[in-house]
Order: sequence, then structure tokens, then C-alpha cells
Amino acid sequence: MTEQRGNWTSSAGFILAATGSAIGLGNLWKFPFITWENNGGAFVLVYLVCIAAVGLPIMMAELLIGRKTQKSAVGALKEAVGPAWGLVGLWGVLCGFTLLSYYTVIAGWSLYFFAKTAGWMVGGFPAGTSLGQVFTEQSANGGLQIALSLGFSVATVSVVYFGVQKGIEKIARLFLPVLFLILALLFTVSFAMDGSREALTFIFRPSFNELDGGSVLEALGHAFFTLSLGMGAMITYGSYIARNQSIVKASGVIVLLDTVIALVATVIMFTVIFTAGMQDQVGDTGTVGMLFISLPQLFFAEGIVPGGSFLAPLFYVLVALAALTSTMSLLEVVTSYIIDEHEIERGKATLACGSVVFLFTILAALSFGGADFASNLSAPGRIGNLLFAGKTSWFGMADHFVSNWMLPTGGLAITVAAGWFMTRESTESELVDETVPGWFSYDTWRFFIRYISPAAVAAIVVAVLFFGVDFS
Ligand code: PHE
Repeated sequence: MTEQRGNWTSSAGFILAATGSAIGLGNLWKFPFITWENNGGAFVLVYLVCIAAVGLPIMMAELLIGRKTQKSAVGALKEAVGPAWGLVGLWGVLCGFTLLSYYTVIAGWSLYFFAKTAGWMVGGFPAGTSLGQVFTEQSANGGLQIALSLGFSVATVSVVYFGVQKGIEKIARLFLPVLFLILALLFTVSFAMDGSREALTFIFRPSFNELDGGSVLEALGHAFFTLSLGMGAMITYGSYIARNQSIVKASGVIVLLDTVIALVATVIMFTVIFTAGMQDQVGDTGTVGMLFISLPQLFFAEGIVPGGSFLAPLFYVLVALAALTSTMSLLEVVTSYIIDEHEIERGKATLACGSVVFLFTILAALSFGGADFASNLSAPGRIGNLLFAGKTSWFGMADHFVSNWMLPTGGLAITVAAGWFMTRESTESELVDETVPGWFSYDTWRFFIRYISPAAVAAIVVAVLFFGVDFS
């Protein structure tokens, strides 16, 4: 099989693809909202520490396991660590599967809001429109939700179908620069707005008395999510890296870009909110509110965002592109497992995986009022009550399970594998070669991957298991 495997055509192609996987709804949807909830400053600082101390070393570990073995998650862990570790890989595949099934639904909303805002750009914003109502109506419309998710799934399948070079890398090379440009444009505009100072202060001035243990764990959990770690996506992408490319350098660039983009997106959103003086209302609309209720409203409100009616559809193009470069990495985890371990040809494997995942996407799509059986799992006798008390929809339950259980446990297993089960020689030979940058110290990496990362991740697992902390 090894000869037939795809490879990235260049280091830049790989870095763009992996950065595309990392940058996604986590950066544009989750991070701004949890920063808001945790009162900015100190939370952002803790998040940055988690990214550097836990995210970066694990990114290197996943990529090295992939490149060393040239296999996708299951095969890679079996070969690098031992046969039983294939189970950890399988856990990752299951996680990719579940995450993809509901991530697609939110991605589908970006299509809807693109169409809506493009319509308002052309035809004018109808006076008195309530964005809260627009949002609730679209999300409760089961048929519409299935259609939007289907559109997005088809896009994802079409990319992965064409493989690593002609599909994933090509799309990443094309779309990521567009994404950076749109973000740069929005960022520039936000500096001309009144609220930008207030936004920057909120995000960057730490006040530690607002921080509690739960916030620290939330920052750590999000570091996994946003960097696509803990479920084998980076192992899989790492398996297509050529020998002469530096894992250390690439990890540095991916982590840096992901972090900068999350901060830039947050600055933009908060600037809009502060300029409009909407800070009191944002919290009420929940996680989805900021991206799909507050922002579209503000783009069209007079005197807030210069050129807002033009920037609004562009903003949802940004969200859609960021989501697509992530969904394709999720589908690749599942598909490459089927290709490698069951020797099924890529085209067939992609269609089969895409279709099975979509069956679960339907459940997630109907979770916002589209169908009672998916929206209301906590009705008497339904599984919501038994499994995850308090989560009332299929969507909420899947997100809860992935963010709280699957990513942290998978991540813990991967750090332990790289730090304790793989030999020093086998990891050192992947990380240290003539391409290694001067700032990197192997011994420091080894110390982090053996002690700091597992301890931090174990803290999340314990918090979830014994103290009921919830990151979803
Ligand atoms: N990193 C992506 C985001 O921030 C989500 C993701 C997680 C993608 C795991 C792939 C694997 O949106």
C-alpha cells in the first residue's frame, strides 16, 4: 500500500492543509464565545499558555507518529507503539466520525446566512427584521437543515474523493489565502470603528480574579479542539509528509497561524459588538448567537460597520471556507482508515464514509426543533436522560461527548504513547534532523510530552469524570 499513498507536493501545501484543518468553527464560533463568557484577558492568557505548553508538543507528537509510519491513525499507532494501540486510533476515527456529523450542520448555517445576507446586500435589509427569529426559524426547519447539511457534505466528499494532492491540498492552497484576505479586510475595517479599543482591552488586559478552575480547563479543552488534536487528524495529515520536510517548523507555523486567526476573529467580532453597545445582549443568545444572530444584525445596522452590507456575505464566505477545510480533514481521518486498513479504493471509501456519516448528520440537523425525536432526547424514556443529563438534543449530546470525553481521552493516550511507549531514538530521529530550527530543544519537548502534557490532559479528564465540568 505504501507506494500508492498520496503525499503533499510541498511543505507549503502541507502547512496550508493542516492550518486549514486547525482553523475552523473553533476559531470563529467557539473561541470568541468562550472568551466572552470567561471575561477575556486572563482567559486568553491561559489559553495561550495551553496552546504553547500542551498544544504545540502534541502537534509535533501526532505529526511525527504519522510521518514515521506513513499510515493513518489506526495503522500508525499500531506500528509506532504496539498492536493494542490500534484501539486508540479507532477511538480517534469514531471521534472524527461523530464530530463531522454535527460540525456539518453549523457549517450549513454559514451557507444559509451567506444567501440571506447576499440577498439583503442586493435588495436592502427589511426594516424590523429580528435576526433572532430568522435564526430560530431556519434552524427549526428540518427540510432546510437537511438540505443545507447535504450541500456541505457533498462539498466535503467531493474534495476528499480526489485525494491528498488533487483534492485536499489543492483546495487548501486555493481557499486559505482567500480566507486570510477576507479576515485582513475585516480586521482593517474594524480598526476604524469606535469600539476597537474597548475590544482590545477586553481581550488582552488580564484580570485574574475573574478566572476560576473551570476556565482553565475550558482553555485547555479548546486548545485540543482548535488545533485538531486528540483524534488522529494530525497523525493522518502527518502520514503524507515527505522525509525532507521539518515537522518542528511546520508545527510552529500551524499553531501560530491558528492562534493569530482566533485572536483576529475575536477582535473583529468584539469590535462590532462594542461599537454597537450590544455587550449586555450577547450573552443571552448563547454560543450560536454571536456568529449567527448578533453579527448579521450589526453588519446591517446603520453607522456601525463601514460597508457592512457588503462585508456581511463576505464574512459568511469566510466561515464556510474555514469550515470546509476542517470537515475535509475529519472525513479524511475516517476515509483513510478504511482505505489503509480495509484496502478499499479511495473513491468508493469516500462515498461510503460520507454517506454513513450523513445519516448521523440528519439527526444533528433535526436537533434544533426540526424533529422532536432528535431535539428532545431528554423526554421520558429517551437516552438523553440516561447518558448525558441536561443535554436535550442529539446535537448537544454529540458535541458534549466529543469535546468532553473523546478529544481529552484520545489526547491523553497519544501523549502517553509518544512520551512513554515510544523510545527516545524513535521520536528524536523524526524531530531532529538537518531541517530542525534553532529554537527547538528535543529534551524540552520530551519533558513536556512526558510530564506536562499528560498531567494537563489528565486534569481535564478528571474534571469531566469527577467534577462534571462541561466544555461543550
Ligand atoms: N480544528 C477545527 C476547528 O477549530 C475542528 C477540528 C477538530 C477539525 C478536530 C478536525 C479535527 O474548528
